[in-house]
Amino acid sequence: MAYLRVLGFDTDQLELHLQRAWPVVSEPGQAVGRHHHPNAHLSAVYYITGDGSGRCGSLRLFPHRQVNELVPGLAVGHGGPISADHPLNAPWQDVAPQAGLLVLFPAATDHAVLPNEDDERRCSVSFDLFLSARASNSRPPEFLAPHPGAWTPLGPTA
Ligand SMILES: [Fe+2]
Repeated sequence: MAYLRVLGFDTDQLELHLQRAWPVVSEPGQAVGRHHHPNAHLSAVYYITGDGSGRCGSLRLFPHRQVNELVPGLAVGHGGPISADHPLNAPWQDVAPQAGLLVLFPAATDHAVLPNEDDERRCSVSFDLFLSARASNSRPPEFLAPHPGAWTPLGPTA
């Protein structure tokens, strides 16, 4: 919830649900291709191992747009006003695993894991999180999903 407060959310309106979690044990040489998690609002990874060097396979986040791109297409190319090699203009951001590090990011953000170039396994736990209105709010605002306890399953269609 602290992460959401930093982003400006009124957390008094929200419940944060752990939708799923799974362990990840990455063997030397193993990588994960670019993907995102369309079923969730937030994704997270908690690193159990890692020394901060990135050798064991950094998390590569691909923002939808460069963070300094005020208008799509403004930032790079065609003699644009922002240097192509500025760090905020990078097409991705790498996060080096470090034991005890928790990384939270929007679940819709494409991400990948670079190859584990260490001699040992990298261990982490990944999470998908879902935001909803509080269970006590029977009339949530339109932009916020009702609490899952208020959902009505329609059953099998066959
Ligand atoms: Fe993922």
